[in-house]
Amino acid sequence: MIDLHCHILPEIDDGARSLEDSRSMARHAASEGVRMIAATPHVRTDYPTRAARMEFEVDALRRDFAEQAIAVEVLHGAEVELGRLFEIPPEELARLTLAQTGRYVLVEFPYRGWPHGFAGAMSLLRSQGIVPLLGHPERNPEVQDRPAVLRELVDQGALVQITAASLDGRLGPAAKLTAERLLGLGLVDVIASDAHGPHIREAGLAKATAAVGDAALARHLTEDVPAAIVAGDAVPSR
Ligand SMILES: [Fe+2]
Repeated sequence: MIDLHCHILPEIDDGARSLEDSRSMARHAASEGVRMIAATPHVRTDYPTRAARMEFEVDALRRDFAEQAIAVEVLHGAEVELGRLFEIPPEELARLTLAQTGRYVLVEFPYRGWPHGFAGAMSLLRSQGIVPLLGHPERNPEVQDRPAVLRELVDQGALVQITAASLDGRLGPAAKLTAERLLGLGLVDVIASDAHGPHIREAGLAKATAAVGDAALARHLTEDVPAAIVAGDAVPSR
């Protein structure tokens, strides 16, 4: 499996608090069958991570995991707040794309309220040849009330990532039910961990894929689509 959303870089945001945390997250993920993890530190007002810092930390983690014989490949990435997209110069934004292919950017879906500026964000990204992967919309109350509203954004070209811990119930019944309904509506492209540490929302991709209840669909969401994104290719259809 490939995990495209993980706060594995140490001491950069509200994720891993030490190098030992990062190692422990990676070892746990590897034990579940994860072979690649995109490091996706927050890029938002409280954690305004720059691409250069992310790249430096990814290099450091790659060297450490090689020394520690941890068989997980760390990829470049970021989780960019929707509003920030308008402030980041194109060259910087390209460096923040998943696996730095310049094609897909993980966008933090707002935790409340509907993203009314989304059409503008979409045309800005389209002008740069970038497709947004919306992070965990199943946690937003408006999506929880009416999961089908997400189709409006998908029809504009967005991809959707749901969080493993939503699907297996660790984030509460509303997130679980909404994740299941989005899956049923065919609106989900990727399942990722959004892990923030060894204990909080630890990877758990194996438990989540079991919760999908359909091995072929689970593979599509945790391997086939993520592999296309990492390669910078078009994603296979839902
Ligand atoms: Fe996240």
